[in-house]
Amino acid sequence: MLILESKKDLQERVFQLKAKGKTIGFVPTMGALHKGHLSLIEASNKACDITVSSIFVNPTQFNEQEDYDKYPRNFDTDIKMLEEAECDIVFVPTRQEMYPEPDIREFDFGVLGDIMEGAHRPGHFNGVAQIVSKLFDAVPCDKAFFGQKDFQQYVIIKDMIKQLNYKIEAVQCPIIREESGLAMSSRNQRLSTKEKDIASNIYKILRWAKEHYLDYSVTELKKRVEEQFKAIGTLDLEYFEIVNDNSLQIVENWNTQGKIVACVAVFCGNVRLIDNIVFNL
Ligand code: PAJ
Repeated sequence: MLILESKKDLQERVFQLKAKGKTIGFVPTMGALHKGHLSLIEASNKACDITVSSIFVNPTQFNEQEDYDKYPRNFDTDIKMLEEAECDIVFVPTRQEMYPEPDIREFDFGVLGDIMEGAHRPGHFNGVAQIVSKLFDAVPCDKAFFGQKDFQQYVIIKDMIKQLNYKIEAVQCPIIREESGLAMSSRNQRLSTKEKDIASNIYKILRWAKEHYLDYSVTELKKRVEEQFKAIGTLDLEYFEIVNDNSLQIVENWNTQGKIVACVAVFCGNVRLIDNIVFNL
């Protein structure tokens, strides 16, 4: 596995491979890798000749300095995991390499960026779009792989691809979960065993909602879900929203077109966790 730190070296290498007719899959990450990330590497390996991944904890997408500082960093283990997963190239730029000067671009995602994560983490998606576009410039790939875990991020990135005219297909991959049902996340490393156990209720409640949604109105279902979160002391619900998977329009009744996705953000202690489930698969 080739480890590169410079955008220029990476771009050159990718262009050489493309000139030889190789297809390029790209998996951007912030490191502290787990099986969720590795499932994206696997999907890329299956779909493309060459898989490039990146590890970069992007400062511009964090709302709080403390969250950025506390973000887990496991460089050596990450490299080992990527090697074992048969990733071909990993890009590990410095902050200076990605932001030689401040990125002052302001993206407008309209309603897509206004609700849920957008509402609770102002500027977050702008930071995501800044870094993902810079990474796409460094890795001119054919396909880029993202997890459904960050469902709204995927919708935003698809919109960014359209806005900036990239010829890249964004592929969404399923959420990988712990046996308990807890969605894998780098932030889970900050949970105690007891908190992990409590956090597994997030998926239990989402599954309950999926099983029973047709028995209730949207408002009634939301109320029931909120009550269930309240009943579990240590989980502090930030939002529970039910949206259309493409437009992110809030669903007001079940006769709506397209996929219905229920999305949740919850604090477990001071660790913020997100998860989602598709109701009508
Ligand atoms: P990060 O949180 O490291 O996630 C990298 C990719 O892994 C994202 O596409 C995310 O959705 C996916 N992922 C995380 N947990 C997953 C799980 N349990 N199952 C499946 N996929 C999972 O998302 C980011 O980094 C950053 O915002 C990034 C796009 C790299 C830009 O900085």
